[in-house]
Amino acid sequence: MSPRHFLTLRDLSKEELGYLIQRAIELKTMLRNGQRHEPLRGKTLGMIFEKASTRTRVSFETGMTQFGGASIFLSPRDTQLGRGEPIEDSARVLSRMVDAVMIRTFEHSKVELFAEYSQVPVINALSDDFHPCQLLADVQTFTEHRGNIKGKKVLWVGDGNNMCNSYMEAAQQFDFELVVSGPENYDPPQALVDEFSSYVTLERDINKAAEGAHLIVTDVWASMGQEEEQAKRAKAFADYQVTRELLDQAHEEVLFMHCLPAHRGEEISHDLLEDPRSVVWDEAENRLHAQKALLEFLVTGTH
Ligand code: CP
Ligand code: NVA
Repeated sequence: MSPRHFLTLRDLSKEELGYLIQRAIELKTMLRNGQRHEPLRGKTLGMIFEKASTRTRVSFETGMTQFGGASIFLSPRDTQLGRGEPIEDSARVLSRMVDAVMIRTFEHSKVELFAEYSQVPVINALSDDFHPCQLLADVQTFTEHRGNIKGKKVLWVGDGNNMCNSYMEAAQQFDFELVVSGPENYDPPQALVDEFSSYVTLERDINKAAEGAHLIVTDVWASMGQEEEQAKRAKAFADYQVTRELLDQAHEEVLFMHCLPAHRGEEISHDLLEDPRSVVWDEAENRLHAQKALLEFLVTGTH
């Protein structure tokens, strides 16, 4: 039987995603109460990182430790992956030893290829095209602060990047309205905009886009791998900074999220993360709880 993977939010049904959010909230409470829960005792997570990470690495490693399991950090610099061993071979070998694999890489097709040849669940921990784990944490955070996200208006500001793509998928999977506001030439892929047209609209006017928004989200202007475009992008995105004044124009109960790391003075104003409407630290912490729910679901099949 082929294992379940989590390469994008579409790999799970709406019901399964809803279950994961509730389970993440439950696991957080259990941890706070000092309740031991070790469903992955004796299990190992392989963690392939071809890009830098703070939150993703620490949340997955800590999650495995709390679950009674172990994790192995694999960087291309120290493994044969970096010396050209084919993905297919690496997937077949690693998945005969570990119980799940997490991959952060560039081309999304690499994650897909790895999953095709893997005997164990594969988790996309960020590719150039999607960042589904972050969405689990974001939806958990919204749910904790404001209840169900269904029917709410979410505004994505800035680049039509991997996070934005996952927000488009989330709009469908969690049933919310998404408005994307960014400069010309940096829109999300037209194929996704068309596919999710019942949930997603584009609005160049950032102030208009903010009206009535229950959640405003943004991300860096230049993602990992786009460093050399930084100056050009800074110019293009200059009108798309999220500020306290922008939040003032949204719904009175608006929340602000950012997957982090953030660049103050670029995509957000210097004071934004200190604003009481910003919940970025809860959002970062929830990577731990949401991914524990995901690991438990994928590795033990419990739901
Ligand atoms: N948000 C996020 O994925 O952070 P890291 O790059 O630090 O893992
Ligand atoms: N869009 C960013 C997200 C980082 C977590 C990047 O890909 O670098």
